[in-house]
Parts: sequence; C-alpha cells; structure tokens
Amino acid sequence: MTSRAVKPCHQWFNQARFGLFIHWGLYSLLGRGEQVLIRERLDPAEYARLTARFTARRFDPDAWARCAKNAGMKYAVLTTKHHDGFCLFDSALTDYTAVKAAAGRDLVADYVKAFRKQGLKVGLYYSLADLRFPAYYKGPQRAPAAFAEYIRFLHAQVRELCTNYGRIDLLWFDGEMPHNSEAWQASKLVRMVRRLQPHILINNRLGAHERAGWGDFGTPEHTIAAESGRLWESCQVSTWRLWGYAAGERWRPAGLLLDMLCEAAAKGGNLLLNVGPKADGTFPAPFVKRMERIGAWMKRHGEAIYGSEPAACDFVTHGRQTVKGNTLYLLIRFWPGPEVHLAGLKTRVLRAKLLSTGQRLHIEQHGDHVYLRGLPRKAPDPLCTVIALACKGKPKPCDWAQHGVWEGDPTGRLAEWLEG
Ligand code: GLC
Repeated sequence: MTSRAVKPCHQWFNQARFGLFIHWGLYSLLGRGEQVLIRERLDPAEYARLTARFTARRFDPDAWARCAKNAGMKYAVLTTKHHDGFCLFDSALTDYTAVKAAAGRDLVADYVKAFRKQGLKVGLYYSLADLRFPAYYKGPQRAPAAFAEYIRFLHAQVRELCTNYGRIDLLWFDGEMPHNSEAWQASKLVRMVRRLQPHILINNRLGAHERAGWGDFGTPEHTIAAESGRLWESCQVSTWRLWGYAAGERWRPAGLLLDMLCEAAAKGGNLLLNVGPKADGTFPAPFVKRMERIGAWMKRHGEAIYGSEPAACDFVTHGRQTVKGNTLYLLIRFWPGPEVHLAGLKTRVLRAKLLSTGQRLHIEQHGDHVYLRGLPRKAPDPLCTVIALACKGKPKPCDWAQHGVWEGDPTGRLAEWLEG
C-alpha cells in the first residue's frame, strides 16, 4: 500500500478502514446540500439570519457516536466550518458561531467528547474557503492587504481548533480552490498544527492542483482510487453528490455502501462515508437503518476489513479479496452456489471457513486450482458473504497469475493452456 513509511502514531488510520464524515451547518436548514449559498447566489445577509433558526434542538452527540461505533466505524470527521463560514465551534475571532446562534452551545466540544467516550478517533474538517470575505475571491494579487488579514484569521481559527479540544487525531482541510499553497501559507500552517498536535494526521487539500505534494493521506472524492506511496481515504456520499442534508434525497442501498467499503479495503485504503444530519441535529432515519445493517455485517466479518491489505491475487470472477497475515479473505459479491473455484493461487490452503456462518469447508487443491465444496446453495449473507482461507504462508499467485489477462503471454502459459 505505502512506500513512504507510515509513522507509528499514524498506524491507527491504516487499521481503521471505516470512518464517518459529517456535514452539518446552517445549510442543513435549507436541505439542498452544503453549497446552497453560493450555488443559488442567495442573499448573504438573509442566509446569515438562519442562525436564529439553528437550534440543534435534538442534537444528541452520544447517539451520533453510538451510531458510528455500532456501524463498525473507527473515526469521524465533522465540518467545524464549511465554505459558508459558519462555525460549529466557539471562536474569539467571529460571532458567526453556534454558540451565538440559537443553539447556544459549542457543538464541536460536544462532538469531541462524545466520540472520544466511545473510543473513536476524532477528526475536524475546516474549510479554507470562506465565502463571506471578498478577499477570498480577489486573492493575494488583487487584494494583498485584505488577503493577508484573511490568512491571519484562518490560521488563528485553526489554532483555536488545535488548542481548545484536547487531542485531535486528524485535520481535514478543504476549500483550497482556487489558491495555491503559497497563498494559504500552508507550510507555516502545517508547522503550527504539528507543534500543537504532534500526533495529528493532516490531509492533502492545502493548495489547488498540488494535492499530491501535501499531507499524510490522500482524499480521492467520489472515487475509490488507490494512491501509491501514502495512506489514503476515499470520501463518499451515502446519497448522491451533495454532502449537506438534502431533503427528499434517495439513499444508496446498504449493499452498495458496504461494497464501497470492501473496495476501499481491497485496494488498501479507507472509506469515509458521509451523512448530512438534519438541522435539528438528528441523523436521517434511512442512514441509521443502513448503518445498523452494515454494523451487523462488520461484527461477523470485520476481520476481513480492519487492518487488511490488498491481495496479490485477483479472483475477479467471484468478487474482491483482502489479506491479513497468511489468511486470504474472499468477499464474494454474487453467490456461486455449492462450489467456489479459484484459479491461480500458488500458496497451499490449509483451512477454509465460511466466515458468515462459521461452517468449515472442504478443500481440494490441484496445481493452480482450488475447489471449495459443500457451500450452501443460497448466499448465507444477503449483503456479502466472506470465506477465509488460512494458507501456508502469505497468499501468492502462481507465475501466470501475476500477469493481467491482457498483458500478452509473458510466461508462455496461455498458448500452452490453449494448445492443451
Ligand atoms: C468538495 C465539496 C465540499 C465538500 C467536500 C468533501 O470539496 O466542494 O462541499 O465538503 O467535497 O470532500
């Protein structure tokens, strides 16, 4: 997965595989996603008056943390301030905060406390873009003095986040477009953050078009693309495209959400799955229902996900796979019936178990072929069935299986197979 050595204090991230992204703010009152202010060119003064209606009346941070924990998530990331500039935290630099809004409380403090209590790692999202400042649009060339003032404001707010809430495990910057890291004074910002929170993981969004150069981990968005050379996490919505609450939105089925997690794990990364809570502070019921189903699955099958690595062999005709130590996990997408046939595994299989039920399976291994027999006719788990193969050594492909099907015939075995 990574060629750059992962610091010991960052190892938890590589074990975690599954986290919760939470987009919550004034925009949740309007129910058309997190960017409604700019996308619909709303009257900024009128938008700011939403603070009077942002009561967070039913916000129960313990319920959020329990939902995440029971789903099998190991960490969370909350939008402390999105592009609209409204802060869920108490800030000495602005009154545009949840404390001064109808909510009357520091929601970040409540979140941190509740998630910590459940043993989850705590992440804070902070947007560098703040749509209320003309300097943000004009940039350092057109408005040097105002932009410098704006940067001082941002850095000071990040200092507050890194000072007032105890240990923070992860910082998730966003909104760096259209400015580069020099404009954001990103090196200075990162130095300050690391001084205040030496263990922290920082993401890569600190300069437009420079993502590869920054951060402890990559953040592919709406895609599950492995990044080579460093940790990564795919952030994904549980609905469609928008991150903030969207009233009446359709939800992705539990099976699809779980498959995204399996895909991320099979590629060596994490899934940061988003929820847009309602303005009152509750998670939408369809999300909670899906998390319960995924949580039940994770209880039985979590060993195939947490701390796993990508497998060197690919049995694409059945689904995905991960590896941990000498165990190969087959994450079967579609149920093949009473027999599973794997071609191309070099390592000997010692034991096979249907993780979903605990049933031991009969193994026949001849040359490059493995046959697992005696499986139930119907898929034992409706979301995704997992088979664990304990191997004699780390599972490795045989010679010919190290090459992609469309790479020609470097070992001469394809022609041999055809000619018999
Ligand atoms: C995009 C969106 C932003 C969202 C983020 C999450 O950058 O512009 O609204 O918060 O994705 O990754």
